[in-house]
Amino acid sequence: MLSQRLLEEVIADAAPLLGGGKVADYIPELAKVPSQKLGIAVCTAAAGVVGAGDYEEPFSIQSISKVFALVQAMGLYDEKELWSRVGKEPSGNPFNSLVQLEFEKGMPRNPFINAGALVISDMLQSRLSAPRHTLLELVRELAGNPHIISDKLVAASEYQHSARNAAIAYLMKSFGNFDNDVDEVLKTYFSTCAIRMSCADLARALFFLCNKGGRLDQNNMLSEKQNRQVNALLATSGLYDGSGEFAYRVGMPGKSGVGGGIIAVVPGEMSICVWSPELDGSGNSVAGVAMLEQLAKRLGRSIF
Ligand code: DON
Repeated sequence: MLSQRLLEEVIADAAPLLGGGKVADYIPELAKVPSQKLGIAVCTAAAGVVGAGDYEEPFSIQSISKVFALVQAMGLYDEKELWSRVGKEPSGNPFNSLVQLEFEKGMPRNPFINAGALVISDMLQSRLSAPRHTLLELVRELAGNPHIISDKLVAASEYQHSARNAAIAYLMKSFGNFDNDVDEVLKTYFSTCAIRMSCADLARALFFLCNKGGRLDQNNMLSEKQNRQVNALLATSGLYDGSGEFAYRVGMPGKSGVGGGIIAVVPGEMSICVWSPELDGSGNSVAGVAMLEQLAKRLGRSIF
């Protein structure tokens, strides 16, 4: 049964893995984060958030933000329009790869690789007058935490090292799949990736994913059908070229970020967030995946 003690045991099991991965350093500001962190939080309708370890400490959510951006775009665009700009297939390639994008004429494989998230940011830029502010407000509301911020130093650090993301965006623009000014959209995208949240914040904010689209405050974030669609995409593409391995080991829809966070959901039951900054070769948290694997095993949960 879920309890704080169980989560503490999951953390203790993962602790020996510390030292086995590498903190992201291609965004220099992220390399400053202490590598020895371990946090886990679980949110259920009955108990709210239960957590252990560093679960209340904010970290850079990075690509986990792509889930918020996607659900926001699903509210602003009809289904056909949205999926005419981005695909629904796993990429089998690193999250910031360019090769497939050239072969596939500027159409990103899915909304979670950088190319897909940049297209989604471009779409948000087209429909929102203040996209950075609107997304941050949504995240604060979902988490029930008005103190959540976007870290300006991290966003600036990403902007200073944006050659690859800029190349991805310009390649899509050359194929006609990018409407707005690339620099503006990059700034929006980086500011979203630089949002700082704790495991507790993220488990609360993404509770709707395990609750048929219904938020903790009873409002609807997504329809039941849209929610199933998002979970399907998370299960197939949420951990990039590590998605198959994650499905095999953990068996839950999930989304990782290079800040070391991973969110996962047991539909109908719980939303989970783990955090540990050291990453594997696909950019996914080494101890984070292990914590989710242990939790799934101890609770006997899998969507498969
Ligand atoms: O654009 C980037 O490279 C980062 N802001 C986000 C990448 C990321 O988090 C990939 N996740 N595992």
